[in-house]
Amino acid sequence: MVQDYHRYSPEDHGAWQILYDRQIKNLPGKAYPGYLQSLEAFLPEMNREEVADFRKIVPRLKEKNGWDIKVVKGLIPVEDFFCLLAEKRFCSSTWLRSRAQLDYLEEPDMFHDTFGHLPLLMDSTYAAFMEHFGKIGARYLDDPIAITALQRLYWFTIEFGLIRGNGKPHIYGAGILSSFGEVNHIYESDIEVIHFDLEKVIHNHFVNSEIQMRYYLIEDFEQLYASLTELEHILEEGLEMEVDIVR
Ligand SMILES: [Fe+2]
Repeated sequence: MVQDYHRYSPEDHGAWQILYDRQIKNLPGKAYPGYLQSLEAFLPEMNREEVADFRKIVPRLKEKNGWDIKVVKGLIPVEDFFCLLAEKRFCSSTWLRSRAQLDYLEEPDMFHDTFGHLPLLMDSTYAAFMEHFGKIGARYLDDPIAITALQRLYWFTIEFGLIRGNGKPHIYGAGILSSFGEVNHIYESDIEVIHFDLEKVIHNHFVNSEIQMRYYLIEDFEQLYASLTELEHILEEGLEMEVDIVR
């Protein structure tokens, strides 16, 4: 599958522009500064004017940390997801939410996949985490407990993680960065912020259809990367818990 760019209508480009502008205004001071720098570094390849064009973005990703985009229809089996990450191929859908649906999505669309996820793949430590994470997943495809632990780790970090930047918590999770409502929720709701602890994270069940009330705070991406060594050790020792495979 490839991104059939000519199929995007003026309506699509308009929806992209609203989404992009809204987040660009809302994120300063809230998003991890390194994310905002990467977003800026992506200009002009990804900008407010037009729906992200993978033909322009991929060369930048490849040049920086060797990553590629694998176009997918939507959510894919976890097995494929891990194996693609292990090969430094990030999955992205190509459909974009409509103006009528700016704030409600049943599945991640390309605004989430590109605006939310791609900028941080320009960070070498974050990118190394993603690759190593995929390799661990690829090794444990037949182990539902390991897959559950990996999915929880991904959820509470890559999708909904907070990071200390300039002393205070900042957002680096793509699920928050790409959502106007989630960003405001972090600052306006009575959420719980817990220091990242791998044991706590992998035992923390989540429901992906519910808004999060608990967030985990990492100090930096080195801490995140180091958690994989700890996870490998835990998996080698043998982990016991209820499984909840989310596809
Ligand atoms: Fe995501």
